[in-house]
Amino acid sequence: MKGIVYDGSTTALVDGLTLRDPGPREVVVRIAAAGLCHSDLSYMHGLYPVPSPGVCGHEAAGVVDAVGNAVTHVQPGDHVIVATLAACGFCQYCMDGRPTACRATLGNWSQPFTLDGQPIYNFAATSAFAERTLVRDVQCVKIPHDVPLTSAALVGCGVVTGMGAVFNRANVKRGQSAIVFGVGGVGLNVIQALKVQGATTIIAVDTVPEKEALAKQFGATHFLDGRRDDLVAAVSAIKPYNADLPRGPFNAGGVNWAFDCVAHPQVTYNALECLDWEGTVVVIGVAGQTAEFKGLYGRLTQVDRGIIGCRYGTVSPQRDIPFIIDLYRRGEVLLDELVSATFPVARWEDAVHGLESGSVARAVITF
Ligand SMILES: NC(=O)c1ccc[n+]([C@@H]2O[C@H](COP(=O)([O-])OP(=O)(O)OC[C@H]3O[C@@H](n4cnc5c(N)ncnc54)[C@H](O)[C@@H]3O)[C@@H](O)[C@H]2O)c1
Ligand SMILES: [Zn+2]
Ligand SMILES: [Zn+2]
Repeated sequence: MKGIVYDGSTTALVDGLTLRDPGPREVVVRIAAAGLCHSDLSYMHGLYPVPSPGVCGHEAAGVVDAVGNAVTHVQPGDHVIVATLAACGFCQYCMDGRPTACRATLGNWSQPFTLDGQPIYNFAATSAFAERTLVRDVQCVKIPHDVPLTSAALVGCGVVTGMGAVFNRANVKRGQSAIVFGVGGVGLNVIQALKVQGATTIIAVDTVPEKEALAKQFGATHFLDGRRDDLVAAVSAIKPYNADLPRGPFNAGGVNWAFDCVAHPQVTYNALECLDWEGTVVVIGVAGQTAEFKGLYGRLTQVDRGIIGCRYGTVSPQRDIPFIIDLYRRGEVLLDELVSATFPVARWEDAVHGLESGSVARAVITF
């Protein structure tokens, strides 16, 4: 079968991959569609300390092909979204509904594929860029047949990461204000979750001006070009301390929440500068392992501001994915509109160019 393999230096579409049979609690999923998340590019660029050669991709939906003899919640023919968390299901974190903290979800690499007799790793416990893949039963979330699989695929990472950051990691309240840096597949989902929560000022920032229309379609109330030097002042103008002063004592004024979906040092610095008293920066973007950021200590103590990170929306997939699909079916969040373009797997490089240009919400690869 076909798949996209990163060998440690280059990435190529190969034919001739084989996949082992499922163990008792494993599922083979025939991939219908897979979104290209920025983390896939980071993997292809060698940014992550994970083994290769590996089959890329981690944001997918498809049809169950085969199940192990102990799998009970899905069966062949079911439509599923694949979550990347191969959680153990038994530890204190899993039991507490926080499988993103389950220690079994990191470093559990395996080699379910072979190519010309050579074992090939999975990526993010998922490997979505292949005609079929092998995952743990807990990773498969069953969805209704009427949800288009191209839209459902994006829920596997970008959607849960963005919405979960708002619903789970942060606790955004009705009437609050937020700024979102990076209007990509993740940032758009932060924006629409903020709207669901009832945030009344939602400022989107991107370095690609064409993202303004998308940001506003998903619920942004303002858009700022991320390249402008006076970005922080522009935020103060939107959310001033009072009618006469853009900023008050200890930098009062600004927004309650800043979601950093970029992870560039200047972006994180600006995010902290944009906060009102008691505001919080939520860092979602993933930078290199040794990347650092700077900020003023005084902003944190004066007064009660914070910076927190968020992995995979702090979601519990079997709880949060059906909730998000329900919001979609009720018309409260957009999924179809996230699919800017679909590319048959043979044209996967066009999907990469679309993501690199910053022009797409999501480019989706189909099988
Ligand atoms: N924490 C997690 O679990 C998790 C999960 C998925 C993705 N991610 C990370 O989140 C980030 C975003 O992913 P994505 O798939 O949405 O990427 P994307 O490429 O779709 O979107 C990124 C957006 O940021 C914009 N941008 C770039 N530099 C900017 C700047 N200086 N200021 C403002 N905007 C800027 C780009 O134009 C683009 O629109 C990546 O770092 C990705 O690896 C993290
Ligand atoms: Zn666990
Ligand atoms: Zn991702």
